[in-house]
Amino acid sequence: MSPASPSSFSDPQRFAKVTVVGAGNVGATTAQLLLTKNSADVVLIDAAEGLAAGKALDLMHMRASEQFGPRVTGSSSYEAAQDSDIVVITAGVARKPGMTREELINVNAGIVASVLTHALAVAPQAVYILVTNPLDVMTNLAARLTKLPDERLMGMGGVLDSARFVHAISLATGAQPADINAMVIGAHGEAMVPLTSLATVSGQPLASVLERPKQQIAQIVEATVQGGAAVVELLKTSSAFYAPASAITRMVQAILNGEDALLPVCAHLRGQYGLDNLYMGVPARLGSGGISHIVELPLSQDEHQLLTAAAKTILTQVHQAAVAFKP
Ligand code: NAI
Ligand code: 2OP
Repeated sequence: MSPASPSSFSDPQRFAKVTVVGAGNVGATTAQLLLTKNSADVVLIDAAEGLAAGKALDLMHMRASEQFGPRVTGSSSYEAAQDSDIVVITAGVARKPGMTREELINVNAGIVASVLTHALAVAPQAVYILVTNPLDVMTNLAARLTKLPDERLMGMGGVLDSARFVHAISLATGAQPADINAMVIGAHGEAMVPLTSLATVSGQPLASVLERPKQQIAQIVEATVQGGAAVVELLKTSSAFYAPASAITRMVQAILNGEDALLPVCAHLRGQYGLDNLYMGVPARLGSGGISHIVELPLSQDEHQLLTAAAKTILTQVHQAAVAFKP
């Protein structure tokens, strides 16, 4: 059959299906990246009537100039999410003036619980990626509310924090991001653990390429941990979304392409790193079907202590959320 024959037009290339719940800044930007990278058909869902459909239509209007193959639809109903390969959950609210952190947890826990109920009804076999904050609490909550197996439930935080770590190292050394290998694990928040002992620049240990290693590494860590806050401070009315969407897209691509890529994801620990029965950021192999296994890297003693402290922080928050949130 010639490529130009009429029936070839009615038989478009089949793409994987990714549903993104929450068509706000992070969700819509993720949709844009997945489309323009020809990664997947996208279903955008948002509770706000017309928002997802409007953004989907706007994104489809990009198709002519950007020349991408996949399609996007938008709705406030979950019907179109039927049999999705991946569901990304970005639905939630950000903290407003006068709102306590606990209240935010409570509101977003309700949103995530409702989204999971609706999405699982139509896409029970999908890989689920949580994004809504507080990320570690929401991922642990999702695990308690669903029967999703370890490989198909995870949270995105570490890929974003690692990108900020790489950026800070790039600024300090002048090296290109592609030549930097660096990872952040632990919590997606103040208790994150940038693995400075394992970071390399063009294959050389980070400390060996810095003029004042102790001082500069402390600055790099500070810039990494405060990266999200720095963006909020400048934007004022919203938090970061370009780099978060890029991090989500990286995880989605690793899964859809069956890459078996080593990425930091919020995953279920079952004794690894001496930690049990919680979800937190750890290096994991991500590929077809989700997480194949958690990788135990040789951490320094300090890093191991920080990881243990991060786990305690997350467990306390999860406990608080469980007390506050009654499904
Ligand atoms: P946004 O406010 O731009 O978008 C959130 C969207 O969720 C809104 O369009 C809202 O209508 C929708 N929504 C609310 N309740 C819903 C429900 N029940 N069902 C469907 N949609 C619902 O916020 P943005 O900037 O997109 O951030 C989204 C979430 O992601 C926030 O919780 C934010 O803190 C978090 N985040 C997490 C990151 C991470 O690394 N894990 C990075 C960046 C953001
Ligand atoms: C960030 O790190 C808000 O979690 C989001 O930018």
